[in-house]
Amino acid sequence: MDQSSIAAVLGKIDFEVFVLTAADRDRRNGQIVCWVMPATIVPQVPRVIVGVGRMSYTRELIEASRKFALNLLAKDQWSWVSHFGFRSGRQVDKFATVPFERGITGSPLLSGIVGYLECEVRSVLDGGAHLFYLADVLEGTLVADRDPLRLHQLFEVLPPEDIETMKRLLEQDIPRDLSLL
Ligand SMILES: Cc1cc2nc3c(=O)[nH]c(=O)nc-3n(C[C@H](O)[C@H](O)[C@H](O)COP(=O)(O)O)c2cc1C
Repeated sequence: MDQSSIAAVLGKIDFEVFVLTAADRDRRNGQIVCWVMPATIVPQVPRVIVGVGRMSYTRELIEASRKFALNLLAKDQWSWVSHFGFRSGRQVDKFATVPFERGITGSPLLSGIVGYLECEVRSVLDGGAHLFYLADVLEGTLVADRDPLRLHQLFEVLPPEDIETMKRLLEQDIPRDLSLL
């Protein structure tokens, strides 16, 4: 296996950047996710698949409520990447200073986003380090018809210290994930 040529192909795949949110009773949280994919072609039965890290606090809330929301970030909302993606809600209340509304699933909905999807879990594939949630989309709203933020753009729009942090976190997470695969 040639790891670098595999990485070169995988590196051609870009992803939109979302804040995945969930709530269970008085707990609420959100994290950055990029692994989001539509999972039907049938408009009457919209579904998505989302890959969520085993250790994430948001996943704990999804397991409890079986519901979540996907907030699709706009290109100018890059500052949410460090806020929701660099630390865990187990250490800090990420919504303490962030205005939000609650959707029909009780999950937080952010302002200024391109749109959101509210979802209910149907089944789960255990990939070891990540769990892949197949979910019915219960409701969705296009809030503003703007360009979404994409993973590859982060290297252009994030401040250099955030790019360094992102690389450092990735290097920390790889050995942990390897032990879970
Ligand atoms: C650009 C970026 C993309 C990410 N994509 C995912 C993803 O697709 N799935 C995932 O589980 N975590 C992803 N993460 C990591 C989580 O957002 C991160 O581990 C977060 O701190 C978990 O927060 P929580 O413990 O409060 O839920 C990503 C992080 C960044 C910075």
